[in-house]
Amino acid sequence: MSKNEPPPSGASRNAPKGLARNAANYGDLDFALYLRRSFAKSMGYSTTMLEKPVVGIADTSSDYNNCHRTAPELVAAVKRGVLAAGALPLGFPTVSLCEPSLFPTSMHYRNLMALDTEAMLSAQPMDSAVLIGGCDKTVPAQLMAAASSDMPSVMLVTGPMLAQRYEGERLAACTDCRRYWARYRAGEVTPEKINAIEGKLASSAGTCGVMGTASTMACIAAVLGFMPLDTASIPAVHSDRLRAAEEAGALAVRLITHPVKPSQLITAKSVENALRVLLAIGGSTNALIHLAAVAGRVGVKVDLRDLDRLSETTPVLVDLKPTGEGYMEDFHAAGGMKMLLREMRDLLHLDCIDLYGRTLGEQLDEPGDFVDRQYIHARATPVSPVGGLVSLFGNLAPDGAILKRSAATPALFEKEARCVVFDGLADLAARIDDPDLDVTADDILVLKNAGPTTPAGMPEAGYLPIPKKIARQGVKDMVRISDCRMSGTAFGTIVLHISPEAAVGGPLAFVQSGDRIKLSVKDRSIDVLLSDEEFARRRAAWVKPAAPKRGWDKLTHDQVLQAPDGCDLGFLRPDGA
Ligand code: FES
Repeated sequence: MSKNEPPPSGASRNAPKGLARNAANYGDLDFALYLRRSFAKSMGYSTTMLEKPVVGIADTSSDYNNCHRTAPELVAAVKRGVLAAGALPLGFPTVSLCEPSLFPTSMHYRNLMALDTEAMLSAQPMDSAVLIGGCDKTVPAQLMAAASSDMPSVMLVTGPMLAQRYEGERLAACTDCRRYWARYRAGEVTPEKINAIEGKLASSAGTCGVMGTASTMACIAAVLGFMPLDTASIPAVHSDRLRAAEEAGALAVRLITHPVKPSQLITAKSVENALRVLLAIGGSTNALIHLAAVAGRVGVKVDLRDLDRLSETTPVLVDLKPTGEGYMEDFHAAGGMKMLLREMRDLLHLDCIDLYGRTLGEQLDEPGDFVDRQYIHARATPVSPVGGLVSLFGNLAPDGAILKRSAATPALFEKEARCVVFDGLADLAARIDDPDLDVTADDILVLKNAGPTTPAGMPEAGYLPIPKKIARQGVKDMVRISDCRMSGTAFGTIVLHISPEAAVGGPLAFVQSGDRIKLSVKDRSIDVLLSDEEFARRRAAWVKPAAPKRGWDKLTHDQVLQAPDGCDLGFLRPDGA
């Protein structure tokens, strides 16, 4: 660079690009840009580099986030791709959320990460972005941010972990964590063995190794068009994952000259495709909330009754835990998203586009025919002829609830029984294993006051433990009902997301131990057998829980929407309400 090199042309003022975007307004734009370049030069960049288009890279590496352990090398690979394609890569940190690391639950902070990421995408100078996510809440948060900022963005996930062989069986987080812990509670596994297995459940870098929320969201991001289809399932430690990162960088540069915006990707049709995929993979119940939140950012509504309609006509084709047998590495090796989508091609809107501007139909026509039918079934021999999720309505859930039937016990689908109610998480922890608890294997367990507005923040507590004294009788499943969520890696006959939640005065608030509840999967209904008079009497005596006084808890309490609206914050929706 010449010492006398003139400052970059003021032409950038007319059509700000790269570092000239979003300059602070001091009343002198040239000075604002001069100041910005001066500080950027303190990092050693040449004028030539600073005049290039800019790709922002949302770097979510964190010592608290094991699922993003590989983020630093992914950032490096993205940067290679960006530089080789002729732009300047600039990484920036955002909130990073890891499922087991956050109190009260990572869900409580998904919207904070979405808000943080949206603000940084909107405020910093960049022409396009690569968003590195992976763990459950990170991908939806980043998609929400991309949708609201409408910044052309490539989604890059860290990828799933590998399963490990241990004493003759394969293990990976976290279905196997739950399975072994349930066996330990039932007295079938010794303390020594449960301790030994603790170090075998997550033995490589990456997100949970089953079709939990992280991988479900990766598949959804891919079918929405935010990443190439095959990159949804590449294991975290494969070299292909780094090549995918390099491609993500190059694709982000392509987006600068061939822009495809999130608002072009997230449409009513692509959201319906995503729902079909969610059903066909036997995906996580959480993904329904996240998809509703992402779609809601562009004004597309996910209707629970539509979900039910789609569920009746979408078979489960992927045989992975927690609903089946395999792990994400098996899905990838079996052909991954492309071969799954080919199998359900007639159910999809093939004119939806991806970041390259290709239609879904064109992507599915690309070469490559290998498919392993052990993990990606043919339509003629599905894992299940109908989809994994159903929605339920009734006097207990006027605005809906969800049941993952593919992970539930069919013998419990039609049931009327007495219920045992827990008033909140503290009550649950205090009494569930009490030997004197009045509970039988035939009862229905109910947890309330754990919904989105509560201090608990709608945790994954819907997988209520089977009371120890029942588990020790060999009982593996009971009907469990709550206004919270369950992990995408969990299983059981579990009714979730009861809406409205108890804490806002939904009918669940008025259910008491001893009431009778009727679940009918056939009729898609969930009711408590109480007279209108008794409901009214209990409603009149109900006291609304106190609200938090300050901070993120208060903002969430005041703004969070119910599950059918994705538990987004009202003021972050397009209409701000
Ligand atoms: Fe991060 Fe499961 S804990 S994906």
